[in-house]
Amino acid sequence: RRRVGVLVSGSGSNLQALLDAAAAPEAPFEIVLVLANRPDAYGLERARLAGIEARLIDHRSFAGRETFEAALDAALREAGVEIVCLAGFMRVLTAGFVEGWTGRMLNIHPSLLPSFRGLHTHARALAGSCAVAGCTVHLVTPDLDAGPVVVQGLVPVLPGDTPESLAARTIEVEHRAYPRALAMLAEDRVRLEEGRATLADERPGERLLL
Ligand code: GAR
Repeated sequence: RRRVGVLVSGSGSNLQALLDAAAAPEAPFEIVLVLANRPDAYGLERARLAGIEARLIDHRSFAGRETFEAALDAALREAGVEIVCLAGFMRVLTAGFVEGWTGRMLNIHPSLLPSFRGLHTHARALAGSCAVAGCTVHLVTPDLDAGPVVVQGLVPVLPGDTPESLAARTIEVEHRAYPRALAMLAEDRVRLEEGRATLADERPGERLLL
């Protein structure tokens, strides 16, 4: 089973979905380390409750991004991590860090990329009168929220939706999309070719959650 490290900043509900999926006997991955950059990240507590090593690496106690990221990287490598999952990790990572994990780092983003990179995705989908919203799990590249897509989940926008109601509907789909994408990577089925992610032996619809 592939050894996975998860980076969180907040509630960690996506981390929980990965922990729950890892508990299945057939799971091709195990979560071995959870790192948070904020002391109040509930994800730290979720990890401890699951018996997983959890560490706070507070970005505010470092002089700059490089030293902060060096501490993240050292913790991941010391734990023998093979795949990194960003799960509501709200610090931008430099190219130097990202390039050390090329093809082995996933992020989940609450929009159908390439629409709505960055923040406030649900408000922007509503402002654009989108009929469909969703989430994306993608490989991380130095360009923020622009890496190759692995799995996407569709979410209808309903009359009267607010950013909060749309976020609540979207996160349910995130919790299904992230374990699926991680399993694909852990099974070594995801290939990076000319900036695109291709999936070995892809079955129709496998990368799409409805
Ligand atoms: C999720 O909706 C995730 O997609 C989003 O933060 C939330 C974290 O929730 N990520 C981003 O916006 C990344 N830019 P969680 O802590 O409960 O998993």
